[in-house]
Amino acid sequence: MEVNMKGIILAGGSGTRLYPCTISVSKQLLPIYDKPLIYYPLSMLMLARIREILIITTPQDIDNYKKLLGDGSRIGVHFEYAIQENPRGLADAFIVGEKFIGNDSVCLVLGDNVFYGATMSDILEQAKRSIKDGGASIFGCLMKNPQDFGVVEFDDHRNVISIEEKPKKPKSNYAVPGLYFYDNQVVEIAKNVKPSARGEIEISSVNEAYLKRGQLHVTLMTRGVTWFDTGSPKGMHKASGFVKTLQEMQGFYLSCIEEIAWRKHFIDDVQLRKCGEELKQTDYGKYLLSLLNNEEE
Ligand code: TTP
Repeated sequence: MEVNMKGIILAGGSGTRLYPCTISVSKQLLPIYDKPLIYYPLSMLMLARIREILIITTPQDIDNYKKLLGDGSRIGVHFEYAIQENPRGLADAFIVGEKFIGNDSVCLVLGDNVFYGATMSDILEQAKRSIKDGGASIFGCLMKNPQDFGVVEFDDHRNVISIEEKPKKPKSNYAVPGLYFYDNQVVEIAKNVKPSARGEIEISSVNEAYLKRGQLHVTLMTRGVTWFDTGSPKGMHKASGFVKTLQEMQGFYLSCIEEIAWRKHFIDDVQLRKCGEELKQTDYGKYLLSLLNNEEE
């Protein structure tokens, strides 16, 4: 049986690394090449066939997100919105989202994480399935600078033995990206996390709790998957360049939410045409309309 899974996009935060760009605008509304940053994490939830989605953001930004995304019916999903008063940490998503999660499982994606990989749909569906009897499923991505993230430590048999948040001396090159699948225990676990030295309730503490219970699955993302943390000007620029290059070379768009909705049958041809017409003065809108003429793809 399918696990009933909800999705949360954490799209608040302070964005201080992007100042002055983010003094008056939320980071996740800034463009990565031709679409708002939040489209990229949103598309991951859609690829996992998660259609009930909570967007958590700041009091000053919530109206802009509502203006951009509405109730979700345009792309065949359902959006709810919640405010995080202060950036208390990633694990706070499960406390702010407690009512929304109810008795279900949940996938959390960070609003500034961009993923690309031809097998992404399979990876996500597999992660979703892996917790159908409980537990947590996270990923490890090979990185040159893992010390900026949560880092996975393995024993000789590739079993995970620790997850350390921003360690000075990382014990492996596998960093944990901002995409996590949890069963319903996560709400209680998050409530019991003590703030770290930097005053945040860390997602690594949540993952450690699952690890201690012997319920943490870690999937290593292979070479075929690319992950960008776009929290800095360099990260944003790198991701934008990647999206532009790939789109121009392949002719396919990355994280085009209307296209994913259509391919996953959340919306029909009529609705895709409507979305394309609304944006038809742009290449983005023209692309949507072109999909209807190339159905064999
Ligand atoms: P970070 O990049 O760790 O933090 P930030 O966005 O506040 O940026 P900076 O370090 O430049 O000040 O956050 C990762 C993602 O999670 C990002 O999309 C913002 C979001 N976030 C929240 O929504 N609430 C929080 O409490 C935190 C810590 C982050």
